[in-house]
Amino acid sequence: MNTIFLIGFMGAGKTTIGKNLSQRLSMNVVDTDDMIEKVCQKTINDIFKEEGEEAFRHHESTILKELSWPETIVTTGGGIIKNPENRQFMHQQGIVIYLHTDPRVVLERTADDDSRPLLAQNRKQRITRLLNERLPQYLEADYTVNTSMKSVDTITEEIAGFLARDRRFRA
Ligand code: S3P
Repeated sequence: MNTIFLIGFMGAGKTTIGKNLSQRLSMNVVDTDDMIEKVCQKTINDIFKEEGEEAFRHHESTILKELSWPETIVTTGGGIIKNPENRQFMHQQGIVIYLHTDPRVVLERTADDDSRPLLAQNRKQRITRLLNERLPQYLEADYTVNTSMKSVDTITEEIAGFLARDRRFRA
């Protein structure tokens, strides 16, 4: 069972940690948002604007299934867990790691970034509300790492430690 899924809220550092972890474990890394943009030939912002969130979620579920190969780390968009089928799929296919980030840190990390349509307005309130709403689904993950006050290397080592002790990994 060698597919690793990194899930977590916007600004959790999924992409950065995914790249570092891929070097640490010599695994491929792929990102659902990147692939959606490539396939649709549009930015996430444009997909939300032109097609709406529901269509984006449809692309997201399709891409998730296409990217989940063995020996691969899949970094996901923050809302991937909204669809119960995506959660079930990730659990069946591999090991799911939730990168938790405090709302205050999410706000700091996303401050100068307008690539996320769901945070375009009322950012502070949106972050608190969405994170609270999604927390129960994020916590269904196999492992949780709090990323708020830690370096990328520390987080990577923590994940590598969980995996080394997980009998399903590289079994
Ligand atoms: C979203 C998170 C984004 C992207 C889209 C929707 C969400 O990805 O998929 O803007 O619903 O949380 P990141 O978590 O990589 O920012």
